[in-house]
Amino acid sequence: MANPTLTITDNRTGKQYTVPIENGAINASELAKIKVAADEPGLVSYDPALLNTAVCKSKVGYIDGDRGILRYRGYPIEELAERSSYLETAYLIVKGELPTASHFRMWQHNIKMHTMVHENVKHLIEGFRYDAHPMGILVGTVGALSTFYPDAKNIMDVESRRMQTRRLIGKMPTIAAFAYRHSRGLPYVYPDNDLSYTGNFLSMLFKMTELKYTPNPTLERALDVLFILHADHEQNCSATTVRTVGSSHADPYSAVAAAAAALGGPLHGAANEAVIHMLREIGSKEHIPDLIRQVKNRERRLMGFGHRVYKNYDPRAKIIKQIAHAVFEVTGKNPLIDIALELERIALEDDYFVSHKLYPNVDFYSGIIYEAMGFPVEMFPVLFAIARTSGWMAQWAEMLLDDEQKIVRPKQIYLGYDERHYVPLATRREVEGVPHETEIRGPL
Ligand code: CMC
Repeated sequence: MANPTLTITDNRTGKQYTVPIENGAINASELAKIKVAADEPGLVSYDPALLNTAVCKSKVGYIDGDRGILRYRGYPIEELAERSSYLETAYLIVKGELPTASHFRMWQHNIKMHTMVHENVKHLIEGFRYDAHPMGILVGTVGALSTFYPDAKNIMDVESRRMQTRRLIGKMPTIAAFAYRHSRGLPYVYPDNDLSYTGNFLSMLFKMTELKYTPNPTLERALDVLFILHADHEQNCSATTVRTVGSSHADPYSAVAAAAAALGGPLHGAANEAVIHMLREIGSKEHIPDLIRQVKNRERRLMGFGHRVYKNYDPRAKIIKQIAHAVFEVTGKNPLIDIALELERIALEDDYFVSHKLYPNVDFYSGIIYEAMGFPVEMFPVLFAIARTSGWMAQWAEMLLDDEQKIVRPKQIYLGYDERHYVPLATRREVEGVPHETEIRGPL
C-alpha cells in the first residue's frame, strides 16, 4: 500500500480516526487527537519501560532479535569482528562510514593525542577510597571532565562535538586503567602512544617495572574484538540515557557519565560481573540442576541469559565463545568455562528456557575471558563502558541533530490522591503502634 494507515474507532464516541503508518509505526501524538470532549486531554499510550515504543529514528545500529542479527551502520558484526579494529569500528559508528586509509591515520592520530588526562584528573582518582568500585570511579571522573573542558557545552558546534568525541574515546582507557591501578595500590601508568589503542590500554593496566610493555598479540586482539562487539547496541538502557540527558542540552561528559551509570547496573553492563559470581557460586557441574530449579521457581535469574531484543542466540555471544579458546591457549583455561558450557547445554534443552526464548547474551562468556586475562570482576563493566563510548557519542550526536527531537519529557498516568489540604503538624493524628518513620510502609 502506498500510504498505509490505521483506522481507529473510539467506542466511547463512535468517532473514527485515520492515522498514518510510517516505517511500521504510528506517531503517538496522533493519539492525542482522540478525545471524548474537546477540553479533555487526548488519549496517551501507556508503555512502561518503553517495551513497544520507538523513541527515535536512527542510522547507527540495527538488530533483528528473532534472527540474531547485529549490524553497525549496515556492516554485520561478524565481518567487523573478523576484519576490523576497535578504532576503525569506532570511526564507522561515529562518522557513519568506514574511513579511507588517510582518514584512518588521522583518526588514530587524533585519538592518541587525547589519551593523556590532566594531572588533576589523576589527583581526583587518587581521592577515591582504596576499595572504590572502578565503575563508580569511572562515572565520577567522566562527569568531572566537563569541568576540565568547559568548551564542551558548545554542543551545537560541530568542531566542539568532534573534539569531545576524540577526548572521550581517547581518555576512557586511561581513566579505566587508573581506576584499576588505584584499586591495586599501584602507580598509574601514562599512555604509550607507540602501542595500539588496546595495546596501550593493556600497558596502562599491567605494566610493572619493565621500561616498555609489550602486549601479548593474541590477548591484544581478543580485547580489541571484545571492544568491537560492545561498541553499540541501538536503543538499550544506556543509549536511552545518553539521549535523555543530552536532550536537556547538558554537555556530553555529563550525558556519557549518566550513560555509564546506567550501564553499571546488573541488568545491563554489569551482568558480566554477576555471571562470574554465579558461576563461582555454582562451583561444579553437579550443582547446575539446583540453580536451574531456583531459576525456574523464579527465586533468581540466570545471569547472562535473556535479552529484551534477542529471542535467538545473541550473535556477540557466539563470537565471544570462539575467542575464548584462543585466549585460553595463552592464559590457560578458566575452569569456569566448563561450568558455563554445561549450564548453557542444560538450559537450552530445558522447556522453561526454550519457551521463554532465553539464550546466552553477550555477558555470558565475556567475563570468563576477562577473568582469564587477569581482570578483576569489578573491571568488567568498565571494559564495556570503554567500548560503548563510541556508540554513546554517535547516539548523542544523532539525537542533537534530529529536528524531531526535543527535551525528553514523558507522560504519566497519575493514580495518587486527589487534592487534599495541609494539616498542621501539631494537630496531625499519631498512627497507633507506628512510632518510627521506618515502620511506615512505602518504597523509601
Ligand atoms: N533468567 C530466568 N528467567 C528470565 C531471564 C533470566 N535471565 N530473563 C528473562 N526471564 C524470564 C522472566 O522471568 C519472564 O518470565 P515470565 O514471562 O514467565 O514472567 C520472561 O523471561 C521475560 O522477562 P523480562 O524480565 O520481562 O524480560 P526483559 O526483556 O525485561 O529483560 C533482561 C531482559 C536482559 C533484563 C533479562 O533477560 C535479564 O534480567 N537477564 C539477566 C541479566 C543479563 O544477563 N543482562 C544482560 C543483558 S545483555 C547486555 C546488555 O545489553 O546490557
